[in-house]
Amino acid sequence: MPALDSSLQNLSVSEIVAKHTFGTWRPQKGWKPMHVVRADGVYFWDVAGKRYLDMSAQLMCSNLGHQNEAVVEAICRQARELCFVAPGHATTIRAKLTEKLLGVVPQGLEKFFYATSGTEANECAIKIARLMTGKRKVIARYNSYHGSTATSSALTGDFRRWFAEPVGCAVDDVLHAPECNPYRPEPFKTASDVIDYYDYMLSNEAHVAAIIVEPIVGTNGILVPPDDYFPRLRALCDQHGILLIADEVMSGWGRTGKWFAIQHWNVTPDILVTAKGVTSAMAPLGVVAVNRKVADHFEDGWFAHGHTYESHALTLAPAVAAIDEYRRLNLIERSAQMESVFRQKLSALKDRHPSVGDVRGKGMFFAVELVKDRKTKEPFGTFKDKYARKPMVIDQVVAKLAEQSVSMIGWMSHLVIAPPLILTEGQLDDCVAALDEALKITDALAKG
Ligand SMILES: Cc1ncc(COP(=O)(O)O)c(C=O)c1O
Repeated sequence: MPALDSSLQNLSVSEIVAKHTFGTWRPQKGWKPMHVVRADGVYFWDVAGKRYLDMSAQLMCSNLGHQNEAVVEAICRQARELCFVAPGHATTIRAKLTEKLLGVVPQGLEKFFYATSGTEANECAIKIARLMTGKRKVIARYNSYHGSTATSSALTGDFRRWFAEPVGCAVDDVLHAPECNPYRPEPFKTASDVIDYYDYMLSNEAHVAAIIVEPIVGTNGILVPPDDYFPRLRALCDQHGILLIADEVMSGWGRTGKWFAIQHWNVTPDILVTAKGVTSAMAPLGVVAVNRKVADHFEDGWFAHGHTYESHALTLAPAVAAIDEYRRLNLIERSAQMESVFRQKLSALKDRHPSVGDVRGKGMFFAVELVKDRKTKEPFGTFKDKYARKPMVIDQVVAKLAEQSVSMIGWMSHLVIAPPLILTEGQLDDCVAALDEALKITDALAKG
């Protein structure tokens, strides 16, 4: 190995990374990133050889498990054949992925744009909606995350938008509205109430191009809407002549027991955005899928978008292999079948831990929400606490899980349970055993 720059010689990998690269979504002080050296299936290992069970599939994205052989092989094969050609050309792999996607996306979506992240794909989707309708405004929902560039920051409903607003890094003309949250039905009790509110908004606004929603809200709570929400939302969009955009960056690719979450309600959006699981996160690909009506607009209208790495062959080849692997391993059906196992084992936590307020989810996408008091549903932390840099109790729970070799994302006052779709029941039991220990922290603070 070549000698390191002399100023770096006495530092560990973790120290070099922390000192000379940015740790995201945090102040830099105090960042001590784990040095990960290996990953395989549902596990990854740190440099000291400690093995972690990956219960959030990293960022809810490694759906096939780590280092899937077929995907690795597809990347190598493509690298040998053709790494890159400018996106104005046709490539075999671009045609192949398109053919595969047509077999899995909701019927009616038939033209694609291949970007390199969920953020960029959302950015593109909004540009498409604005160019097509000639209107600027977009409705998004509060408990949402749509990405970190200018428009996708502005769409984001959670506190991550707040940092970008004062310095103008979140482009405006986004209106925020409530989502459907069956556990916390304030300010609206039912799906009907929520839709009526959107109707009220749309009746009092002009120049609205689209509404963007995560069909099952991801990091912000794994919120599964009631069955009447999406059919009514689709009808409302048609009535007001606005586009429905489904952000399936996290909820796609078998996570909820269907290829895409919106398929649970037989609703087809005008535009669907996805990323993460499309390659099982083994290469950076984002996808925008649009229906014929949207596609037709650009027959004469300019598709005024593009970048050097769009349709990059090294991102498309792993997606083709990943789709084949989802099918070969039957993972979409498996995720649907595992839902009852997850529900039963995680709901049982409620009987043993007074701090568990709610357990909810779909497929292999679950939240365990922690509360100080089941009656008042007071959470252990909020967006405002996080923004004010207060210490978060949920971070203590996550640290206790890590101590027991379980890696999991904790968010304000809930845990996100979204492992690779190959997780076995026995591995879920290991996770539950670690949760039994970690939840003692919140139990001690909760009103029994
Ligand atoms: C629903 C949703 N949309 C968009 C994004 C942004 O995707 P990316 O991080 O690939 O830019 C995320 C990332 O977590 C997401 O969960």
